Amino acid sequence: MKRTIIITGGAGFIGSHVVRLFVNRYPDYRIINLDKLTYAGNLANLRDIEDRPNYKFVRMDICDFEGVMKLIQDEHVDGIIHLAAESHVDRSIKDPFTFARTNVMGTLTLLQAAKLYWEALPEKYEGKRFYHISTDEVYGALQFDGTLFTEETKYQPHSPYSAAKASSDHFVRAYHDTYGMPTIVTNCSNNYGPYQFPEKLIPLFINNIRHGKPLPVYGKGENVRDWLFVEDHARAIDIIFHKGRIAETYNIGGFNEWKNIDLIKVLIKTVDRLLGRPEGADDHLITYVTDRAGHDLRYAIDSTKLKNELGWEPSLQFEEGIEKTVKWYLENQAWMDNVTSGDYQKYYEDMYRNR
Ligand code: NAD
Ligand code: TYD
Repeated sequence: MKRTIIITGGAGFIGSHVVRLFVNRYPDYRIINLDKLTYAGNLANLRDIEDRPNYKFVRMDICDFEGVMKLIQDEHVDGIIHLAAESHVDRSIKDPFTFARTNVMGTLTLLQAAKLYWEALPEKYEGKRFYHISTDEVYGALQFDGTLFTEETKYQPHSPYSAAKASSDHFVRAYHDTYGMPTIVTNCSNNYGPYQFPEKLIPLFINNIRHGKPLPVYGKGENVRDWLFVEDHARAIDIIFHKGRIAETYNIGGFNEWKNIDLIKVLIKTVDRLLGRPEGADDHLITYVTDRAGHDLRYAIDSTKLKNELGWEPSLQFEEGIEKTVKWYLENQAWMDNVTSGDYQKYYEDMYRNR
């Protein structure tokens, strides 16, 4: 079956893996990558597929209603997989308005444009799908009590980032409940892997270890995150886009909880081993700094529903995933140099000056 799908945020970290998977796996689909190319978007993430006949890149802001409307109409779009967002908690603390604009108004813009186009077609919503990619952070924070976020967990976002994502999730569900739009929402845990912008913990720390720079550990390093290899997330998105039930929510996670400081020690060991440095050579880089404001203590996802209904499970053990990831960053220093040129140094200095 032929389809035309817009993937928003396809030049970002997770989006680039989703675009690659769909372009490779579905030669009959037309995949349109709609991305504004903010600091987090980088077409170098897609060099290997950019010349494929079933791929097209469109530089556009998801808040540009007229542009989005025209694109959906001109291309006869029947599916939207929406990943474009401002995604970094620390940035949201400094600049919440940008997060409300892109994550809330941008999502609403896409929903409204898709609604107007699909409702005017003779077949209306039949065969259409609006799939919104969200985060486990909308559920707030867990204590150290073994509980997990399920699809029924109440929304309790704490950061401007998660509040904006939560708001966008509500709009998506409202478009189903009010207009009958065929929507799906998934909430995923922390992703890691190649092509992640080095403001997030794992790529930032790999790069700092390599260059002997301090590793700024927030608070006591005791916060817990549930880590999933990004290609496993992309695979889940593929399965859910095709087989997920309309109006449902699915949690995606790896049952893979790590205390930050333990994860950081694994990163140091792995980088040092792969660079041929003696074990423990870089432990001294660990630097405890002022905690993040409103820092969520623990995230942990229960993805049983996705496993039982659609048979998805993570394919990689964490040790394997981390080895692959560290190797990728060490072998792709040119990619790292490219994304850390320009404004990055100023961002880095501003972010860590007062910590
Ligand atoms: P990212 O920051 O790496 O990429 C975001 C992409 O969106 C970039 O390519 C950027 O250019 C684009 N973008 C930003 N604003 C835009 C706008 N106004 N118009 C068009 N494009 C715009 O983000 P990511 O980590 O790949 O996350 C992708 C999605 O997955 C987000 O919605 C995020 O909330 C969600 N998510 C991320 C994680 C994670 O661990 N990274 C976990 C769960 C869910
Ligand atoms: P991050 O990668 O920003 O993801 P999120 O905040 O969305 O979970 O951070 C992961 C964890 O690592 C989080 O508990 C904050 C912590 N952290 C640090 O301790 N130091 C850092 O420099 C960064 C970026 C994060």
